[in-house]
Amino acid sequence: MSQVCRISATPKPFPTSLLASYPHACPQALSAPVSSPAPATIGAPRLAATSVPGQGWPRVPTASRGAAPAQPRPEAAGAAPGAATAVSLQVESGGQPPRNPSKSAPRRVAMWLGARLDTLPTPALTIDRTTARRNAERMRERCRTLGVHLRPHVKTHKTLEGGLLATGGTRRGIAVSTLAEARFFADGGFDDILLAYPLPTTRLEECAGLAQRLEAFHVLLDRPEALASLRQRPLAHGKRWLVWLKLDCGNGRAGMRPTDPAALELARAIANDAPEEVTLVGVYAHCGNTYGCSGADAIQAIARTTTNAVLSFVAALRQAGVPCPHASIGSTPSCSHPIPEMSQLTELHPGNYIFYDLQQTQLGSCQPQDVAIRVLTRVIGHYAHRGQLLVDCGWAALSLHGAGAGQGPQGCAAIDGHPELRLVGLTQEHGLLEHADGQMDFGRFPVGSVLALIPYHACATAAMHPVYYVHEEGQVVALWHPVRGW
Ligand SMILES: Cc1ncc(COP(=O)(O)O)c(C=O)c1O
Repeated sequence: MSQVCRISATPKPFPTSLLASYPHACPQALSAPVSSPAPATIGAPRLAATSVPGQGWPRVPTASRGAAPAQPRPEAAGAAPGAATAVSLQVESGGQPPRNPSKSAPRRVAMWLGARLDTLPTPALTIDRTTARRNAERMRERCRTLGVHLRPHVKTHKTLEGGLLATGGTRRGIAVSTLAEARFFADGGFDDILLAYPLPTTRLEECAGLAQRLEAFHVLLDRPEALASLRQRPLAHGKRWLVWLKLDCGNGRAGMRPTDPAALELARAIANDAPEEVTLVGVYAHCGNTYGCSGADAIQAIARTTTNAVLSFVAALRQAGVPCPHASIGSTPSCSHPIPEMSQLTELHPGNYIFYDLQQTQLGSCQPQDVAIRVLTRVIGHYAHRGQLLVDCGWAALSLHGAGAGQGPQGCAAIDGHPELRLVGLTQEHGLLEHADGQMDFGRFPVGSVLALIPYHACATAAMHPVYYVHEEGQVVALWHPVRGW
């Protein structure tokens, strides 16, 4: 049985090292099932720990005591010295409209390349590149062992760099959740993009644009009306709509139940009604219900139910003479604990695994040292009468995901290297920390010192940030700019 870990116990140190890349998995069609379903290994990391013992985050909390954020230098970002002052004076005098600040953001943050993490302006979302790369390689390795294609979902990071890591540099075969992501990745040279979201029929022209310009832009649907919409908008130049049928195998969100005769009927209609215009590529089931599990056994039971339901559906289709070449399932918990039966599918589509998070460690999907994401925050106040530290990270930098189920703010993040601390309050831009036994040692956390929060849900937290500070061993080596919007 795979190990289950709970990060609320003492966090382990972070290993830092690089692994060689693995060859990219070959896509398999369902007509040629893989015969050696060896389960992928999920074990302890193979790397030596080099970070500070007893602290999950290399050196940040201790090295940064009292460190003030370095002052931004406008000239370092390409602006003329004094430019910032000039702009603000113009605005105040009403002479010029304000510049769109988001347009200059990439230039503004460029000055932090090479900086130590403890000097960054906070709150700051950081990614440990070594860990993210290792997570990406392990997932590719699992899929290679299973003989299935990995179609990484990019919704967690929404960055070209993350997409490159996840695809092993091929830029081929991703899943996206928004049209904005689809366009962004298409612009970035990615292809074979599946919009893993019920077909937005009110935005069909945007879908058609992507279908025309990409080699393969796949859409997903779960109702006959969506198929009718596609047929009313045929593609030009001999292109066909590439369609996946969305199945709901117990997740209870989008999709048709595979036991519903209407699902078979719709698959047949996609495949047969207008073969010159529409092609049935496959069936897609996201087993998000694995997030309700406790432990690897329960996760694998759901993965098995989902896999079997999808495979039975495809077999029924085949019996009915309907070709359905592909079958894709996935979620980070299920793909972190692959079962042998998955080798009979053609694709897996997890996404969160590239960063992992507190939730995934609690589910047992990963070990604490696999979590690549942090939100750095500074202590900005001491409130001795309440025994509380005030920090500059509120829900606008963390999200409130994890606060449910009676947990409150404490569920939203753990404090790296400080299991004795609890996040007890979150407003938009403020967070409150307490000591578990009420005895806060304020001397250990001077105003200005930096703490690293391990967010409950990486996808939700990353969505709050315009830039990710990507580091190796505590030094910023890259800045990733995610796409935003829908
Ligand atoms: C439709 C769909 N496919 C795949 C994924 C990826 O799953 P995970 O985030 O568990 O890796 C998601 C995530 O929410 C999803 O909604």
